[in-house]
Amino acid sequence: MDEQSGLPFVIEVSGEVVGQLNVANMLYGSVSSAVLGYWVVPEVAGRGIVPTAVALASDYLFNIVGMHRIEIDIRPENKPSLRVVEKLGFRYEGLKQGYIHINGAWRDHYVFSLTHEEVPDGVLNRWLRRQVPQLKYPWND
Ligand SMILES: CC(C)(COP(=O)(O)OP(=O)(O)OC[C@H]1O[C@@H](n2cnc3c(N)ncnc32)[C@H](O)[C@@H]1OP(=O)(O)O)[C@@H](O)C(=O)NCCC(=O)NCCS
Repeated sequence: MDEQSGLPFVIEVSGEVVGQLNVANMLYGSVSSAVLGYWVVPEVAGRGIVPTAVALASDYLFNIVGMHRIEIDIRPENKPSLRVVEKLGFRYEGLKQGYIHINGAWRDHYVFSLTHEEVPDGVLNRWLRRQVPQLKYPWND
């Protein structure tokens, strides 16, 4: 497989494009990591579509592309997006201060990740089988 730096996916529901899942910053070799971003239109929010898409993309990246680590960065105030990583058991790693310039200011982001060895049976399987561990998150303290 060619070493691509990114992979753009669309998210479809019943044949309609309702969102996007973007894989960026793909690094290979002794790092083998990638960063995921995502959104769906408000009309389909709250139906578990993004967690499903993130789980499918993560399993593809781990098992087919050969990635070792997947990272997701989320603004601390984005509660719906924090639920996505919580549902799938991405580990909290810390804060990237002033990480991305959004709407006129440099915004902090929480960092979450999963490594391949944490999910030997797959991210989607672990979630569907209700085997996601209860992890510690700063907003639950
Ligand atoms: C954040 C986002 C990706 C979540 O995707 P999703 O497919 O709705 O995910 P889920 O169905 O698992 O819902 C996650 C949480 O959203 C909230 N939610 C539920 N219904 C909702 C609705 N109608 N509208 C908005 N948020 C809703 C709930 O808190 C839910 O958690 P719960 O299942 O424990 O109740 C999606 O709302 C979105 O695209 N938002 C705008 C863009 C964005 O924030 N992208 C992420 C940047 S890091």
